[in-house]
Amino acid sequence: MKKGKLPIIICLALILSLAGYLIFSKDKLDSLTRHVNSDKGLASASTDVISDIHKDNSNNNTYLPTSPEYDDNNNNKEEDQMSTKDPNNQWTPATEMDLDPSSPTVYVNKEYCLPQDYVPDNLVTPKIYFDLPGNSERKLMREDAAKAIESQFNAALEDGHTLYGVSGYRSYKRQKEIFLNNIVNKGKIHTLSYSAAPGTSEHQTGLAMDVSVKSIRYRLITAFANCPEGKWLAENAHHYGFIIRYPKDKSHITGYAYEPWHIRYVGKDLATYLYNNGLTLDEYYNYVPSDDFNYEEKYASLINYVPPATPTPTPTPPPVIGLDLDGDGILDVFVGDDLDGDGIPDIVLGDLLDEDGIPQAMFREGFDHESFFGYTDDSDEEDLEDDYDQADDTTDYDEEDDSSDDYYDEEDTTNDDLEDDDYDPYDPNIDSDEDHGSDDNYDEVDTPDKTPTDIYDDNLDEDLDPSIPSDNQEDDYLN
Ligand code: DAL
Ligand code: ZN
Repeated sequence: MKKGKLPIIICLALILSLAGYLIFSKDKLDSLTRHVNSDKGLASASTDVISDIHKDNSNNNTYLPTSPEYDDNNNNKEEDQMSTKDPNNQWTPATEMDLDPSSPTVYVNKEYCLPQDYVPDNLVTPKIYFDLPGNSERKLMREDAAKAIESQFNAALEDGHTLYGVSGYRSYKRQKEIFLNNIVNKGKIHTLSYSAAPGTSEHQTGLAMDVSVKSIRYRLITAFANCPEGKWLAENAHHYGFIIRYPKDKSHITGYAYEPWHIRYVGKDLATYLYNNGLTLDEYYNYVPSDDFNYEEKYASLINYVPPATPTPTPTPPPVIGLDLDGDGILDVFVGDDLDGDGIPDIVLGDLLDEDGIPQAMFREGFDHESFFGYTDDSDEEDLEDDYDQADDTTDYDEEDDSSDDYYDEEDTTNDDLEDDDYDPYDPNIDSDEDHGSDDNYDEVDTPDKTPTDIYDDNLDEDLDPSIPSDNQEDDYLN
């Protein structure tokens, strides 16, 4: 080889290497930009198509580009994750924010709200433990989420952790009641941190469930995170398609305080992806509040709600009961009067009622009219006797007595029955507080199929121990 050609060959080799490197890098860059957070144009176009979710600022449905560090992290994790998947059915992170209320990966937050009339069309009651017996709207979940939570709770049970569902699906109307109840009883700061305004709650999608345990009386409190069951949930929820939607230290992103009890179904792929990358749903969709969105302004009428003052009822004075002795229409003596000063009331209540249903007054039996008034009160006595006779004639006093007895007998029997039944609201064989329905119904609703029956039955008796009642009798526990 001639000496002069060597530099040319070296140059050509360098140029070819550089070209190869650039082609390879471009492929890699393309794969990175497929992620939702990095594809502003695509996301923007697609949100025009999906219009089910309301966003107040229609001029800004776009996403911000993902930060490089974030992409690097995701890329590594993504590859790890994908390597275990069927290559023909690979899950890839979304390229657009999901705003379809019926989709398991739907995004709902303070800004992206659900239509007021949105109700999932496949709500069912999962076969899991709940804090209270009976059928209730709050036990409902969408069918896919219900199946997943059944698997999750059964797996927890097999690991020795008994989880309880507390609050699942909520209608728009129900969410409004809960929100206002919180505003009135817990104040604005607490409410804005823990409670979603109607239309902005994931509970309306049927994909969320608030979870608790017996040891904290089924309350929804941060202490749940330190319970073994809460720890298990945080570590394992993603295997069943759930995420802890409002994690610790992410309040500035989610808009809500830490809620270790609120799990949201998003499907296994996305849940695992978020768990592996330590992301909230907001970060995944790269949510940033629109400049002109003002939550407190939008919901001002609810946030500043003041309940109407309840008028204090003016007590009705007790009826004045006495006798008009001289017939002038004015009462002269009153029930309780001790006329002769012997310490014994001489005017007492009689058995008869007047036309207003007020008992009539009479002289006590044995009152000495003559020594007190100087005459015998024959006329009054006759009048009273007349009254008695009349009453006897018209009301058939004896018959009344009979029917009263019958009535009491009936009542007594009912009470006896109740006592014998020893009604216990936590008895798993009783369907609900209001409707003590059939055992069949209870079994259908509340008994998991998959859980080993013996473990389940044992736990059922023990866990529904009435000596550890749920604190969740009122709305106040809900956020
Ligand atoms: N507690 C959550 C934020 C809700 O009300 O949906
Ligand atoms: Zn919740």
